[in-house]
Amino acid sequence: MCKNPYIPHTATVEDTWYETGGDRCIKTFKVVFDDGKVRDQWSHLPGQCAMIGVLGVGESMISISCSPTEGQFLRFSVMRMGKVTQALHELEVGDKMMVRGPYGNNFPVDEWQGKKILTIGGGIGQAPLRPIVEYVRANQDKYEGLTMVYGARTSNDLCFKGEFEEMSKCDDLSCHLTIDVEEEDWQHNVGFVPQMLLDLDPSPENTIAITCGPPIMIRFVLENLKKLGFEDEQIYTTLENRMKCGIGKCGRCNAENMYVCKDGPVFSYAVLKETPEAFA
Ligand SMILES: Cc1cc2nc3c(=O)[nH]c(=O)nc-3n(C[C@H](O)[C@H](O)[C@H](O)COP(=O)(O)OP(=O)(O)OC[C@H]3O[C@@H](n4cnc5c(N)ncnc54)[C@H](O)[C@@H]3O)c2cc1C
Ligand code: FES
Repeated sequence: MCKNPYIPHTATVEDTWYETGGDRCIKTFKVVFDDGKVRDQWSHLPGQCAMIGVLGVGESMISISCSPTEGQFLRFSVMRMGKVTQALHELEVGDKMMVRGPYGNNFPVDEWQGKKILTIGGGIGQAPLRPIVEYVRANQDKYEGLTMVYGARTSNDLCFKGEFEEMSKCDDLSCHLTIDVEEEDWQHNVGFVPQMLLDLDPSPENTIAITCGPPIMIRFVLENLKKLGFEDEQIYTTLENRMKCGIGKCGRCNAENMYVCKDGPVFSYAVLKETPEAFA
């Protein structure tokens, strides 16, 4: 008999911390499946997501914000938006989280071997990019280097802050941070992400660029990548259409002839340009 795909696995919150403050604060959860068999069988790649939830409340599609190279646990970074994400934010260490997945396609990180990787993120958009950064760091000999461009409105709105200092010490990895307006003691760039990208002037040669963040940022980053000479096939992003089932059954996430939950969330710009409704 087939297993019901809607039945989630139980996981325990092992650690949790706030990345940012404010009304729409972002909280990260490190969770471990209770069942050892589920832990052993689980496999995901950067870009994939999971439906996570709280019993009796509901579930939401959330990017898996860790790389499989980090260990037998999952990380989710959740912005408090509404009913489900509020309930998730109330979970503390030792509490149970419901998880089903992994869902969606992944960034083709293995096809990208031998290339330079450029990630361009804004705000919570760094969550799906972080697994790429960690994956490339764990397989440094297979890539030509990694450049990370990341920005947020203020320094308090940057996720994963504690990790950047260590990252900047890695060979072949450069980390460029920016915030929208000047702040006392801020040692990095001030200005919008798309402008910082232009100023950095990365070469498109043998490079893959991946961008995730607010739609307005993505629009200008795409324009600027084109100005820098990147071809559509060298550019990737993710779509975050509202989802319900997560497995291509309900039609909630469809854009033209695609189910974003199954055909995405990762798309090359070459594909998205042919699907204007998906990218509206
Ligand atoms: C592929 C994918 C990956 C995602 N990854 C993450 C992630 O890593 N971290 C994270 O915090 N969120 C992520 N999201 C968004 C997350 O799924 C929604 O914010 C969440 O479901 C909101 O649920 P809620 O019940 O708390 O809020 P609701 O009560 O359902 O909504 C509250 C508000 O949020 C808006 N909203 C809800 N869903 C979305 C959405 N998909 N896009 C834009 N606005 C939305 C609603 O319009 C409403 O204004 C992702 C979504 C998708 C589809
Ligand atoms: S969320 Fe149901 S078909 Fe995609």
